Amino acid sequence: KKITIKAPATIANLVCGFDILGMAINAPFDVMHLTLLDEERIVLKNTGIYPLPESVADNVAGAALTALIKAYELRPELKKPYPHIGFELVTDKKIKPGSGLGSSAASSAGAVVAANLLLDDLFSKEELVTFAMYGEKVASGVKHADNVAPCIYGGVTLVRSAHPLDIIPLPAPPLHITVVHPQIEVRTSDARQILRKEVLLKTAIKQWGNIAGLVAGLFRNDYNLIGNSLSDEIIEPTRSILIPGFQKIKDAGKAIGCLGGGISGSGPSIFMLSKEEQTAQDIAGYMGDVYDKLGIDFHCYVTALN
Ligand code: HSE
Repeated sequence: KKITIKAPATIANLVCGFDILGMAINAPFDVMHLTLLDEERIVLKNTGIYPLPESVADNVAGAALTALIKAYELRPELKKPYPHIGFELVTDKKIKPGSGLGSSAASSAGAVVAANLLLDDLFSKEELVTFAMYGEKVASGVKHADNVAPCIYGGVTLVRSAHPLDIIPLPAPPLHITVVHPQIEVRTSDARQILRKEVLLKTAIKQWGNIAGLVAGLFRNDYNLIGNSLSDEIIEPTRSILIPGFQKIKDAGKAIGCLGGGISGSGPSIFMLSKEEQTAQDIAGYMGDVYDKLGIDFHCYVTALN
């Protein structure tokens, strides 16, 4: 049995919701071909342009599939097509690692979603997130779920709690999403290390006001409330220093009429949300001009929620 799937890029944090909010977008995406084997073995092949670790333990998809196989072996109540299973995975990676667009999540989530389809939906979405989080642990040292959850559920998700896992899929009005990926690499582990470990109470109050406002705005299809809530005084001031052109793009977004935006995941990609497609196109043009002037190569996507 064999299957081919698309694993979408994701925007984690959504500015104010560090490690808890995320959304899946239509572009870019990875293409993954998975074959089910009837013996316990994982074979990894990479046909994309970006090098990926070849050893199963160091490869995020390998780690996620290992977790799924372990659960399969350990649970006698499952309806198993074979006593033992394994997989051959061929990845055509198009989401650049270190882009802040959930490249590792696409690999680990995509692999277990494809595996589950080959196993006729043996596992729940929540279980798939648990397996994929092993991949995130390999990638960044932390089992965060804010990329893998939207990658698996689609749309916008809230990870109310990672341990124990509690994922709440959220509604959203139609949104146009502009993403620019300057071709500099920011490793998630580095971008986490530089963060302050303590927060002032008055800053925390602003932050949870914004998170609640964003969630309420998504439920109420209230574009103004969504825009007003896209603000972050905890993570962005530290991380944005690593991203040339960040403030210019953010200011221009406001001036052009975008709802708001900020760093995608741990960066360096920057995203902007817009109500109108024309606004999304306009900010894409501006983003391109900024990086042209800075002499930094970039990719820009004008896309929508997946
Ligand atoms: N929430 C994580 C972070 C996402 O910001 O470090 C990493 O893509």
